Amino acid sequence: MEPTTRGTWGSKLGFILAATGSAIGLGNIWRYPYVTGQNGGAAFVLMYLACVLAIGIPVLIAELSMGRHTTLNPVGAFKKLSRSRSWPVVGYLGVATGVFILSFYAVIAGWTIAFIFRTLLHSTTSFSDFLADPYSQLFYFAVFLGLTLFVVLGGVEKGIERWSKILMPMLLVILLGLIAFALTLPGASVGVQFYLNPDFSKITGSTILAALGQAFFSLSLGMGTMITYGSYLSKKDNVVTSAVAVGFSDTLIAVLAGLVIFPALFSAGLEPSQGPGLVFNVLPTIFEQMPAGTFVGVLFFVLLAIAALTSTVSLLEVPVAFLVDQKGWSRAKAVWIISALVFVVGIPSALSLGASAGLTSFEIFGQTGFLNMMNFLFGDVSLPLGGFFFSIFVGWVWTTRKASEELSLGAESSSKFLLAIWGVLLRFVCPVVILVVLGQKLFGF
Ligand code: PFF
Repeated sequence: MEPTTRGTWGSKLGFILAATGSAIGLGNIWRYPYVTGQNGGAAFVLMYLACVLAIGIPVLIAELSMGRHTTLNPVGAFKKLSRSRSWPVVGYLGVATGVFILSFYAVIAGWTIAFIFRTLLHSTTSFSDFLADPYSQLFYFAVFLGLTLFVVLGGVEKGIERWSKILMPMLLVILLGLIAFALTLPGASVGVQFYLNPDFSKITGSTILAALGQAFFSLSLGMGTMITYGSYLSKKDNVVTSAVAVGFSDTLIAVLAGLVIFPALFSAGLEPSQGPGLVFNVLPTIFEQMPAGTFVGVLFFVLLAIAALTSTVSLLEVPVAFLVDQKGWSRAKAVWIISALVFVVGIPSALSLGASAGLTSFEIFGQTGFLNMMNFLFGDVSLPLGGFFFSIFVGWVWTTRKASEELSLGAESSSKFLLAIWGVLLRFVCPVVILVVLGQKLFGF
């Protein structure tokens, strides 16, 4: 039974699981390891952790408080909290970013399904041949988008929440098992060194932007996903502790994924900076050497597919909630139309991994190929930019004082001191750091 037509979470745990489900996904297991590999390893990991703590978690709390206070999607939330015509533009940017991120994310998510079959059938087609085959790419992309559509049609409680409940503990257990195995591989210690022993000379402006972008991407921040999910939260729930729980579990899964990938990668003599194909090249080398490797491999890719699904669902939910709340569309109509749009927008990404020479090799913004460009523009730039505006808006326009009133509902015991630290981080640290990092990267100052 849904208490209102918009729906709310069935329980507090349901919300935490769904928000964690949104946060944990390919960002942790596909994107984090390859971005770490491209940015020199351990020093990047430290920057990443600092970004999560000082920027990610404060913005997460800000988004959730806006969502719960207004019970609306990002565009509606800005409209309700400010009379200015400009602020809702940030909400529109978030809705559009959802469509664009989903358009390439679902392509990669499609690979996880393909890898279930490749592992099961011991496929001999090389990964690069698979990537270069336009039919496979489009097929698995469409399958994944179809699954997402199916879950989102079901609505908040029946669809999203139910799927999130079993997954996280299983993913954690299988990761721990894989770490134990990866650490026994010959040469694994070189990988551990790379991953955990920082070399600060490797930190540059791009490293910091990559860490910031990764923190936003991984925590599903900067486009209003957490405004939307927060809008389904009840006033009895403690937003601050929920945000900390989500941030902690998301970071834990990413850090553990690195402990699987880097030992195995160095053991197999592969290149850490190879980019988006990284984990899909490394993981099969683990499963090949492992006892019961086929079984473990299939299970792993099934879990990864579900983790990706709970994230694609949240990406689709943002534009859908916008159309339902603001334009009065039915849920079904919004889901079908946005999914069709995402498919069209995603075609060039799907073909940019070898299928189309032009889309694969063109260079722009220091990125090679269409998918990498989208990943950079919407992951590394648009999300931190959105986060910048969210922090200014909640910190200075809606004000942390009013937001704190909202936050103290359901959190009677939470100390004033913690909220004060949150206020300082949100008002000063977040906007300044994001502006400097983005400006440095984009305009060179
Ligand atoms: N956080 C997801 C992941 O790490 O895979 C990706 C994501 C979901 C990004 C939702 C942004 C978002 F709004």
